[in-house]
Amino acid sequence: MPNVVNERGVMSPDTLEHILKKATSECAVTNVGLFNWTEPMLHPRLDEMVRVVKKYGLPCAVSTNLNINKPTRYQKLLESGLDVLRVSLSGFSQEKYGFTHKGGLIEDVRSNLAELLRIRDEIKSPIRIAIAFQRYLSNMTEECDIKAFCESHDMVFQPIYALMLPLEKVLAYCGVASVAPLSKDDHEIIVNLALPLREALVSAANAEMSECKLLEQQMTLNWKGDVLQCCAIYNEREYTVGNYMELRLADIQIQRKKSTVCPSCVRYGASNYFLYNIPDIEHLAAENIKNNAMRLFEIS
Ligand SMILES: C[S@@+](CC[C@H](N)C(=O)[O-])C[C@H]1O[C@@H](n2cnc3c(N)ncnc32)[C@H](O)[C@@H]1O
Ligand code: SF4
Repeated sequence: MPNVVNERGVMSPDTLEHILKKATSECAVTNVGLFNWTEPMLHPRLDEMVRVVKKYGLPCAVSTNLNINKPTRYQKLLESGLDVLRVSLSGFSQEKYGFTHKGGLIEDVRSNLAELLRIRDEIKSPIRIAIAFQRYLSNMTEECDIKAFCESHDMVFQPIYALMLPLEKVLAYCGVASVAPLSKDDHEIIVNLALPLREALVSAANAEMSECKLLEQQMTLNWKGDVLQCCAIYNEREYTVGNYMELRLADIQIQRKKSTVCPSCVRYGASNYFLYNIPDIEHLAAENIKNNAMRLFEIS
């Protein structure tokens, strides 16, 4: 989203400590994910952040694209007590990976992963390393190899249908005026989704949903501790509720529930889509793959 620039920064372990102290005093915290749009491996004190979470006895997860070459950081991270390390992957060859992880280098990911596995085995870490394989039409031919690699290296294989993100782009696709008009690259992504966007949104819009879990059961904070409407939204300037440390949980939730973006999101099926609450998901993906078989054959 080139026309939206969120303020950049790094959360300190102290800020996280204050946040968790307040959070555990006003609700039942079940787990903490130290990531959203950002890349957690960029954080120079990531291991200390994890230790703060573990001090509160909470399960902690980090999701990374694993493009950062910092062996010492990996060592410290694996020693920190981190429970889950999720690696986002969209291919095993540079040709496939570089197409959907633009600017990413699969050689770096592979060597960083090898280093992580080496450290895990050396220190006998109980950490769960999961590979989140994002399914596009363009990378289907590599799924089996990645699955086999996971099985042979004691990692969890987690295939997921790649979604169109963030919400602003989905709403633009649905014709809702947005600060994020779709670019040529966005259209390239949309035609490459294994799970077709239009059909998935229609199916999701018809699914049962008593509440949006992203609103009722999860809270997304940025590095300053500002509360965002939810994790699916990118534009912080437009969709920040206030600072978590300055507001009571009940007041934050009242504010979030009043947001005018939620009714549009629900109406177009986006909230269910983000939660994979899409009744026809497998059928829609299978049909899409079948219909694109000729094109796929050309790609691979
Ligand atoms: C946007 S990423 C950012 C965190 C980190 N940089 C990473 O790559 O994992 C946050 C989460 O969304 C998931 N994700 C990324 N792209 C996705 C997509 N197109 N559809 C569904 N999930 C996606 C990732 O696997 C990750 O767990
Ligand atoms: S309804 Fe949509 S915008 Fe509102 S919290 Fe849920 S996912 Fe986010």
